[in-house]
Amino acid sequence: MYKKLRKMLPPMRPLHWFLLALCIFVTFYWLVELRLKQAIKPLSNMAGNGATQAAQSSLAQIAPTLDNFNYEEQLVVLYNRVPKTGSTSFVNIAYDLCKQNRYHVLHINVTANMHVLSLPNQISFVRNVTRWHEMKPALYHGHMAFLDFSKFQIAHKPIYINVVRKPLDRLVSYYYFLRYGDNYRPNLVRKKAGNKITFDECVIQKQADCDPKNMWLQIPFFCGHAAECWEPGSDWALKQAKRNLVNEYFLVGVTEQMYEFVDLLERSLPRIFQGFREHYQNSNKSHLRVTSSKLPPTESTKQTIQRSKIWQMENELYEFALAQFEFTKKKLMQPDNKHLQQFMYEKVRPK
Ligand SMILES: *[C@@H]1O[C@H](CO)[C@@H](O)[C@H](O)[C@H]1NC(C)=O
Ligand SMILES: *[C@@H]1O[C@H](CO)[C@@H](O)[C@H](O)[C@H]1NC(C)=O
Ligand SMILES: *[C@@H]1O[C@H](CO)[C@@H](O)[C@H](O)[C@H]1NC(C)=O
Repeated sequence: MYKKLRKMLPPMRPLHWFLLALCIFVTFYWLVELRLKQAIKPLSNMAGNGATQAAQSSLAQIAPTLDNFNYEEQLVVLYNRVPKTGSTSFVNIAYDLCKQNRYHVLHINVTANMHVLSLPNQISFVRNVTRWHEMKPALYHGHMAFLDFSKFQIAHKPIYINVVRKPLDRLVSYYYFLRYGDNYRPNLVRKKAGNKITFDECVIQKQADCDPKNMWLQIPFFCGHAAECWEPGSDWALKQAKRNLVNEYFLVGVTEQMYEFVDLLERSLPRIFQGFREHYQNSNKSHLRVTSSKLPPTESTKQTIQRSKIWQMENELYEFALAQFEFTKKKLMQPDNKHLQQFMYEKVRPK
């Protein structure tokens, strides 16, 4: 039987074996290709009807890859604002211009205003921010410590921004804010309303509300979600805060130079911050929030506070941030202070 079959077929030479193998290989390759294309197809279908170009641009929004990532439309800016640093005025501008500039502003409200997220909330927050494409471009803001997105399998981290303030100014502002509120929500009764003790008296009486430990806030905000960050006086926390400030933050401004902060943002990220400068200068609302009944502390109060280790460390972070901010600002116009710095490509080879 087998021999009969052999005789019916032409004799197989090495060349025939080779051609047969080639045939099988080509068929196999074609099949694999087809399957791959089909696997990708459902995504293009999701993009809907119409031209390939439209499909491709929608595809870019649904499944951003390293190659077609749309940096403008996928922009996410995270402003983890420190309380009482003048952040409300900045956020007000963001709300005023969100419709006109077509981006979203979202406030992150954590239970009891806590600054550290629980572990389950960390991962759901990170995934939600990353995947919530309908909100993009977006500006998220909230009183939350720095959270490192790179720990959560995230390919595109948000852009972090922040503002720091002189630590004693911030503490005094917070102290009176709890007692008298501000002109932003004048009728809201604050936690310590009715308490008439001035900050100076509080320092003399060594009360808890003006304890320098209360200044330990900007360091942990920049340091992040590690336990050590929240240990008042920790050298490790200060170092980590400085490292994050330069490595993880796109821009950190200072309360005393809000306009310059807004200016740098508008120049570098116009997709969201376009028009902020003008709005900041011309609208009354942006300068609205002023803590009521604030008494400047006396020299002796200042000296007492400045002797504490916590103030010295917080001030070191502030000075560090300020130096970084001044440096960044200067580079915009150097070397002649008249023209914006330019850059271009040349000597591009091969032609
Ligand atoms: C955060 O949410 C809680 C509960 O819904 C609400 O009571 C609180 O006012 C919110 N906080 C802010 C700052 O809006
Ligand atoms: C993100 O969270 C919000 C609020 O819980 C929800 O409405 C939205 O669908 C979530 N987005 C994604 C992509 O998970
Ligand atoms: C600023 O406030 C004044 C008086 O409250 C008002 O008349 C004016 O229209 C405001 N300007 C802007 C730009 O909102």
